[in-house]
Amino acid sequence: MKKQNLMKLKLFLTGLEERLKENYLLFNKIEFTCTSGLKKFKGKGAPKEEGISLNFNGVTNQLKIETLTEELCSIAEQYDEVEIKYYERGTTIIIEADNKNVKIKYEDQQTKEPVENINTAQIGNRDYLVKVGPANRLLKEIGILSKEGKVKNDMIRKYNQIDHFVELIEDLLKELGDLDEINVLDCGCGKSYLSFVLNYYLTEVLKKKCHFIGLDYSESVIDSSKKMADNLKYRNMSFFKEDIKNYIPDRDIHLVISLHACDTATDMALALGVRCNAKAIVSVPCCQKEILNQYEYEPLQPILKHGILKARMADVLTDGLRALLLEAKGYKVSIVEYISPLETPKNLLLRAEKTSYGNKQAMEQYQALKKALKVNPTFEKLIY
Ligand SMILES: C[S@@+](CC[C@H](N)C(=O)[O-])C[C@H]1O[C@@H](n2cnc3c(N)ncnc32)[C@H](O)[C@@H]1O
Repeated sequence: MKKQNLMKLKLFLTGLEERLKENYLLFNKIEFTCTSGLKKFKGKGAPKEEGISLNFNGVTNQLKIETLTEELCSIAEQYDEVEIKYYERGTTIIIEADNKNVKIKYEDQQTKEPVENINTAQIGNRDYLVKVGPANRLLKEIGILSKEGKVKNDMIRKYNQIDHFVELIEDLLKELGDLDEINVLDCGCGKSYLSFVLNYYLTEVLKKKCHFIGLDYSESVIDSSKKMADNLKYRNMSFFKEDIKNYIPDRDIHLVISLHACDTATDMALALGVRCNAKAIVSVPCCQKEILNQYEYEPLQPILKHGILKARMADVLTDGLRALLLEAKGYKVSIVEYISPLETPKNLLLRAEKTSYGNKQAMEQYQALKKALKVNPTFEKLIY
């Protein structure tokens, strides 16, 4: 290849190398084809031990990232043409160099992959944020799609739920987009479907750098989450077998999420969010017994003698007190219906965004209510 074009190739590769350093955890693989006359020679590379394992002409070398440009240029100079495809999550970069020209182009995988096998009668005409087609690898791994790429009948509801969750916090995710990297903590993550979906959406659709931490005290779900992350090659995730209330993060946490964390595990998640000064907390609470077993309110006694009404009121009081204490701690809170009550009664989504250091009036209201109801919520106990 001409010296001048090699110099240009080197320039593009230097940019790629910088990107690789910056986005190493998003890097999937590199493939290249070198042409000499009619003969083609293929090479490939994959992430390994903080560097790249590069294979060309049957020889594999372990490279440091900062030697990638040099290595690829020394290969390219021996050929007439070279095509390099660099794959990172959500984006493919293609560099083509020959004696006439050197070109670089970027392909967004969101627009590239065909939307296949969508049966709109089956999933409705909803404009999904996590779309069948571009998100197929993810949706297959988390069991929404069959191997053939069709939405499984018994997973339609789950698909709608997770997509709606993303929709409800989409603007929040965009607001967090000012951060260099968004660290998300999923409390009581279970098999971490929600984290996988949010990771996909942040990384591959919004193109935001992020890191996910999943916490659960069940070893089996942590093992299965790790396996899924391996299969998906999502390397920006860590999972810990840990009780939420004992966890001490090793980095700043910007967003805390919890989906159906049982009973007071939701309080542990909220308290952890407050303790680590998270910019946002999003929680879909689960069954709750604590306040039901504590509260008494004499004026309502003629109504609360009916067990079912006492239980329903306890649900309202539990989430109401949670929201008020979050407000007292400087969060702006909204509570919305997450999914239809026909699907599950645990259908509220509590969304809190840190906007101030605290709210004295909300704290006074909270303390007054606590006294009137004779309750002692775990959430408050875990904040201090
Ligand atoms: C109903 S599952 C929900 C899982 C997941 N968030 C989802 O929606 O698919 C609740 C999860 O919370 C975990 N969990 C409950 N209390 C916990 C605690 N104190 N610390 C860590 N994990 C907890 C359970 O092991 C379980 O995996």
